[in-house]
Amino acid sequence: MTLKLSFGIIAEEQRLCQKHKKEYTSRMFLRNDGSEYWSGCPICYDEDEREKRRQEQIQEQIAYKQRLIARLFKQSAIPPRFESDTFDNYIADTTDKLTVKNTMLQFANEIDANLKLGRNVILAGNPGNGKTHLSVATAKVAIDKTHTALFTTVGEMIDKINEAGWNKATAIDNYTVPDLLILDEVTYTLNNEEQKSLFKVINKRYEQVRSTIIQTNLPMADLKNVLGERIIDRLRENGGVVLYFTWESYRK
Ligand SMILES: Nc1ncnc2c1ncn2[C@@H]1O[C@H](COP(=O)(O)OP(=O)(O)OP(=O)(O)O)[C@@H](O)[C@H]1O
Ligand SMILES: [Mg+2]
Ligand SMILES: [Zn+2]
Repeated sequence: MTLKLSFGIIAEEQRLCQKHKKEYTSRMFLRNDGSEYWSGCPICYDEDEREKRRQEQIQEQIAYKQRLIARLFKQSAIPPRFESDTFDNYIADTTDKLTVKNTMLQFANEIDANLKLGRNVILAGNPGNGKTHLSVATAKVAIDKTHTALFTTVGEMIDKINEAGWNKATAIDNYTVPDLLILDEVTYTLNNEEQKSLFKVINKRYEQVRSTIIQTNLPMADLKNVLGERIIDRLRENGGVVLYFTWESYRK
C-alpha cells in the first residue's frame, strides 16, 4: 500500500511501539541514496532528544569544571618545579616517611571538612625532605575540589607586601582570601615590620577560619620565636597537624 502522499513522504502506516505499547503513524522517506527510511515512535524520539540534551549538559558541566580547575591551578602560583608533586610520587621507604605521607594524605582526603574548620598544618624539619612536595600535593587536591589555594614563600610574600607601600592592607588581603595558603620557607630573616606583616596574614586567616600550611627548616622552639607563641597556638588549634621531617635530603 505505497501511496504518493506529499513531497518527500512516500508512504505511511500505523505501527506499534513495543516500548510504549502505543500506535503511531510511521512515515516513509527516501534517503539520498534511494534507500527507505521509516520514522519511529514520536515518544521514543522525544525521550531520545531529552536524553541527548541531558548528556550535553553533563558534558558542559564537566568541561566547565575542568576550565575552573585549570584557572584555579594557574591562580595558585604553584611553581613549575613542584607542579608534578603528588601523593603518588612521594616515596615512603621508611616508617617516618610513611607517617608524614599518610597524615598529609588523610588531611587531603578530608580537605572539605578541614578547610571548613580552618585547620592548619606545620611541616618542620630538614631540607629536601618533601615538605613542599606534600604541601603542593595537598593544594592540588584542594584545587581539584574547586577550592582556592595560593602558594608563596614567606620572602616573596613579604616583598609583595613591602612593595605595596601605603596599600599594605590590600596586599595582605591577597594572602588572607584563598581557602588554603601554602606558606613556604618560614625562616629567621625578618625584621620587626616584616614579622608584623606575617603575623597579620596568619592572624587574619585565623579570624576568618582559613587554613594555612606552613613549611619551615626551623626547630619548633625557633619557629615559636619567629611566629610567636600566640600564632603557634592558633595554628595548632582545633585539630591542627604538626609533622617533623628528620631524615636525609632526597636531593643528595
Ligand atoms: N620521599 C620523597 N619521594 C619522592 N620525591 C621526594 C621525596 N622527598 C623529597 N622529594 C623530592 O625532592 C625534592 C626536594 O623536596 P622538597 O622541596 O619538597 O623538600 P623540602 O622539605 O621542602 O625542602 P626545603 O626545606 O629545602 O624546602 C623535590 O623535588 C621533591 O619532589
Ligand atoms: Mg621546601
Ligand atoms: Zn515509543
